[in-house]
Order: sequence, then C-alpha cells, then structure tokens
Amino acid sequence: MRMIRRLSRAATAGLVAAAALTAAAHSAEAADTLGSAAAGQGRYFGTAVAASHLGEADYAATLDREFSSVTPENEMKWDATEPSRGTFTFTSADRIVDHAQSQGMDVRGHTLVWHSQLPSWVGSLGASDLRTAMNNHINGLMGHYKGEIHSWDVVNEAFQDGGSGARRSSPFQDKLGDGFIEEAFRTARAADPAAKLCYNDYNTDGVNAKSNAVYTMVKDFKSRGVPIDCVGFQSHFNPNSPVPSDYRQNLQRFADLGVDVQITELDIEGSGSAQAANYTKVVEACLAVDRCTGLTVWGITDKYSWRSSGTPLLFDGNYTEKPAYDAVLAALGGSGDPGDPGDPGDPGDGTVSCTATYTRTADWNSGYNGQVTITAGGEPISSWTATVTLPAQQTVSSLWNGTPTRSGNVLTVRPSWNGTLAAGASTSFGFTVTKNGSDAAPTVGGCTAS
Ligand code: XIL
Repeated sequence: MRMIRRLSRAATAGLVAAAALTAAAHSAEAADTLGSAAAGQGRYFGTAVAASHLGEADYAATLDREFSSVTPENEMKWDATEPSRGTFTFTSADRIVDHAQSQGMDVRGHTLVWHSQLPSWVGSLGASDLRTAMNNHINGLMGHYKGEIHSWDVVNEAFQDGGSGARRSSPFQDKLGDGFIEEAFRTARAADPAAKLCYNDYNTDGVNAKSNAVYTMVKDFKSRGVPIDCVGFQSHFNPNSPVPSDYRQNLQRFADLGVDVQITELDIEGSGSAQAANYTKVVEACLAVDRCTGLTVWGITDKYSWRSSGTPLLFDGNYTEKPAYDAVLAALGGSGDPGDPGDPGDPGDGTVSCTATYTRTADWNSGYNGQVTITAGGEPISSWTATVTLPAQQTVSSLWNGTPTRSGNVLTVRPSWNGTLAAGASTSFGFTVTKNGSDAAPTVGGCTAS
C-alpha cells in the first residue's frame, strides 16, 4: 500500500470538502460544469485520462474544470502494471491517481482481469499457476490503491459478442472455466472491502443475448452471495451500434437485481445536433435509474480519442465545447450556455470571430449591387477580413465601406472606417458588379476577425 497516498488522502479530505462547498456555491447559481451539474443530480461525471497528456495545459485545465471522476485509460491494465510476473510498476497510474486526488476527484480502477492488453507470460501459464497469478495481480493492484478507488472493474469483457451468450475464450476462461469470474470477485472483496466491485462489458447496453447472459450471471452471484456491487456499461456508440431504444430498461433491470449501474466508457461517434441528441438519451437514461450512480466519457478531447476519426467526445481538438457538451450539461440540469465567460466558445472566452453573409440589393440588365454583412461573434472585434469570389466574366466597378485588394477574380475586403464591432454587432460593405453576360452570384468566403 502507498504510505504517501494515505497521508495525501487525509489532506485530500480537506480538498474534497472544499470542492463540495464550491459545487454547492455553484449550484446555488446554476451548475456550469459537467461535474457540478452531475453532483446536483447525486451522480459523478468522469472521463478516461492518459497520464501522458496531463502535462498539456489545456488538457489538465479542462479535466480539472469539468470532471469529478477519472478512469486511467490504459495505465492500470495488466500490461502496464505487471509486465513481467511479480514485478509491479505503478508510475503512470500513480500520476493519474495523484492528480485526481489533488483535485478532489474520484478514481475508477480499470481493469484487473481482461483478455486484452494482457502480457504474453500470463497466457503461457498452466491452470494452477494462472489462478495464483490472477489472484496475485488483483491483490497487487488493489493493495497498492487500497482505500483510494471508488469502483474497480474487476472483470472486463468476459462474454462473447453475437447471439450465443457464451463466455469469450481467454486464458482465464479456457484454463480456469466459468468459475474464474467468481474467484476474481471474491479475491477483490478481500483485497479492498471499501471498493465497489464491478463487472464491465460492451454491447450489453440494450437487452440482447449478451446482456441476458451477464444478467443471468449477476443474478446468480446475488443469490449465492458472491460479492458484486455494480455493472459497467461501456456504451461505445456509432451508427452501426446506436444507443439502444431499451437502454434505460436494460439499466433498470440490472439495478433491480440489487447492483449499481454505471456508464463507464461513453463515446458516441458523430457531430452536431444528432450527436448531441444521442448524448442526451444516454444522460436521461442514467438519471431515470436511481441506481445509475455516474457516467464516464472515454476521453476529454476528440484529438486523443481511441476513435478519433469518429469525433465521439464532448470537446473538439481545440478543447471547445461541442453541441454534445451543451446537451449533456442541459440534461444534467446545468446551465453554462450561453454567456458564461469561463466556457470556451461562449461570449467572454476571449476567442474573436465573425460571420459574413451576402445579399443582392439591386439588379439591372448589365449589372447588380451586392452587399456583405459582417457580424461579430461573442467577443468585440477590432478588424475583419472577408473574401468575395466573382464568376469569371464579372468585374467590380466600385466598392464602398470596405478596402479591397484584388487577385484575379478574388477580392479580399478589409474595413475602411468600420473595423471595430461590439460583440454580436454588424456592419456591411457594398459593391457594384458589371455582369459581362454572367448573372451568377459571387461566393462570399468565411470571415476572420482580430
Ligand atoms: C482502449 C484505449 O482507449 C486505447 O487507448 C487502447 O489502445 C485500447 O484500449 N474497452 C475497454 C477499454 O474496456 O479499456 C478500451 O480502451 C476500449 C474498449
């Protein structure tokens, strides 16, 4: 066990109390972060974290501001913690646990017994050695973090996909049989009686053959007194594996067995309002189930997601809140938007922006007048630039309320007297075009502001 940790934990108690006060003060106004809004609903809101990114200022700032729980994304897995038999390394996992404790966050332990990210030495053991090694691994990790982990994923992904409801082949299953799961949970309970012990899996989010098999196992464990406290639903969703329509019912039937349920690795591929709507469904399902104690998203920013190309998370690669973020915050009863100067992307966040829109204001046989309206975003701006690309035959005979420079048929227009705009305010420039036989509209390019 980590003696330093025991001390820092005592210190952390003060921090946790301070964090609770801050959360209470926030919710008196309106909870404006994921963690404080979830706390208002009696839930935690967590994220997977990679130790290697903690030194990145924006990463750490977003983590510390928004989340109340962390799950090490890879650092507590078998290959990271016991790469050779009996030799434990906790350096990276300790970094995450230390960071979380310094911020008053909870830690989910992930994961003790799993077929993946398993060093090859484990697979080469005979049955009796394997049983000893499995129990030793559980004792090694849970002993090191005793009293510091709110929930452990004791066994991860032990069931097969598809319709059979069978156990997945793994060294544990193949050599120890079905009983390895029960043995792992009994060892885990003895190793850290304070930790909630979870079974965690994917494609078990709706009612199906796989979740039925897990349900049967949990029911059996509860009836025989095998120690299990929670079931984790990974909830990795994409168009081929959407949020199931019976998600809430499935969570509820597990809760009715007398275990907590947790959303453990949530990510939903997509973007915009469709992605936001799916996130809303998940949060609402959890809030509708009393024993759904919290949600964890599988990463902070799209740029570091394990499914990065699917942009499945709540913050984009620049740590700007996506529509999915606003939807989750709203579903949790929080309100950060619009208008919170602390929120990236909101008015007051220091990011200047503008938009440019085009209309034709006059038209005659040989020519027309166009107008471009420039509107500042949530921050005041002191200058702007927009581009107007004319169809090949057309030429501009005059332009007012703007300063053009021409390159071929592209005009880059900057302010003349009208660069300074308050947040949300507009100005416009106009121009006269000679058609030379083409009546097509110009293309007005994106606005940039400074
Ligand atoms: C993933 C991590 O996100 C990746 O960085 C790693 O390369 C592979 O594992 N189910 C789980 C998680 O339980 O541990 C997995 O995490 C994602 C699927």
